[in-house]
Amino acid sequence: MAQLWGGRFTKETDKLVYDFNASISFDKRFYEQDIRGSIAHVTMLAKQGILTGEEKEQIIKGLESIRTDVENGTLKITEEYEDIHSFVEASLIDRIGEAGKKLHTGRSRNDQVALDMKLYTRDEILELDGLLKEMLEVLLKLMKDNLETYMPGFTHLQKAQPITLAHHMGAYFEMFKRDRSRMKDIYKRMNLCPLGSGALAGTTYPLDREYTAELLGFDGPTLNSIDSVSDRDYLIELLSAMSTVMMHLSRFSEEVIIWNSNEYRFVEIDDAYSTGSSIMPQKKNPDIAELVRGKTGRVYGALTALLTTMKGIPLAYNKDMQEDKEFVFDAIDTTKGCLALFTGMLKTMKFNQVRMEESAKHGFTNATDAADYLVNHGVPFRDAHGIVGQLVLYCIDKGIALDDMSLEEFKAVSPVFEEDIYDAISMKTCVEMRNTIGAPGRAAMEQVIQEEEKYLAAE
Ligand code: ARG
Repeated sequence: MAQLWGGRFTKETDKLVYDFNASISFDKRFYEQDIRGSIAHVTMLAKQGILTGEEKEQIIKGLESIRTDVENGTLKITEEYEDIHSFVEASLIDRIGEAGKKLHTGRSRNDQVALDMKLYTRDEILELDGLLKEMLEVLLKLMKDNLETYMPGFTHLQKAQPITLAHHMGAYFEMFKRDRSRMKDIYKRMNLCPLGSGALAGTTYPLDREYTAELLGFDGPTLNSIDSVSDRDYLIELLSAMSTVMMHLSRFSEEVIIWNSNEYRFVEIDDAYSTGSSIMPQKKNPDIAELVRGKTGRVYGALTALLTTMKGIPLAYNKDMQEDKEFVFDAIDTTKGCLALFTGMLKTMKFNQVRMEESAKHGFTNATDAADYLVNHGVPFRDAHGIVGQLVLYCIDKGIALDDMSLEEFKAVSPVFEEDIYDAISMKTCVEMRNTIGAPGRAAMEQVIQEEEKYLAAE
């Protein structure tokens, strides 16, 4: 047990207490951010004349050697230290002696951990953004390739109207695009540097907080030292944004599971992304999609947990806040993993175009268009609705699609029908008639695709 704060104490910490209090088992993951922050801190201290140039050089060299050795495995981050901050400082003193003891001048672990967590989160937001962008690229390719892949659009999970696979994928494109913009917003709002806030009330040293903020790529320093050390809003925002990503992935997973079922057979998941059964040889299960759907609960759980942890904490720092890390780390790992796997699965999935179009036809998705045909020939809509209802009933009875009826059969219900009804209710016509922006028609979709291409190139 190696502690930074032994001076005031006369007894050793109880082992159970020590373990309960320690965070090194999980905060070791931001050793790089801790070192990066310390290098900026001492650079500023030297600029302000608080450390000599030589002390600064020694400390930075020491910190860099610690980073290198942790990375190449020669220096192990062991649990004899309470947290990553203690580990880095103790290792520094071990390596360079007296100068190392000056590293923590004008700093508290409270502003230090606030900084580390922000640096770590910022890096992860960029990774999440990159993964979302990869998903969008796969979706855009599917959109371009499937402008004439007709399928049923659903409401209430009942076949409703014909759409295309491009149009359906376009819906997910919009969702993940909004997810990216949420990431960007969080990044922008959180990008202020807490370093220099000390324990809660700033410090007595003439620190240059603008300078450290700039060195670390922040837009500026935070403006209230109490808030700086006790703000975890950005983590809650990130958990909320990741929960939304997971909700989108989970809905998508649910559709893949349904589409992959024996009854639908709209898609076939690649062997590399499915699993078999230990007992039933015929099985090929959509486990990845199921796991993504299942893991959504973990991320929601983390959001609820952190909101609950934060709600009763008086200002400023309290140890409760150490609980932010495991939730957030797990949620980030989970969301990143799910995004990467789902994208891979989507990229390799085969869509059965013939099945999709057949399904659209046999689900009377063109019934609205048949009614519109009558309306265009002067029949009031309410009557047209009734006539097509009769046709549908007739087809259900005979087990056929509207398109399979003979002209005589059409005419028997309404004499208004002519030969051109077949063209009017073909999947192609049904889709092509819908060409306002946002609709599935080719011209509308091509316009959207062009815009999304520009968006992806710019971001
Ligand atoms: N491990 C602590 C955390 O994660 C670091 C800050 C400790 N500060 C303190 N005053 N004990 O929140």
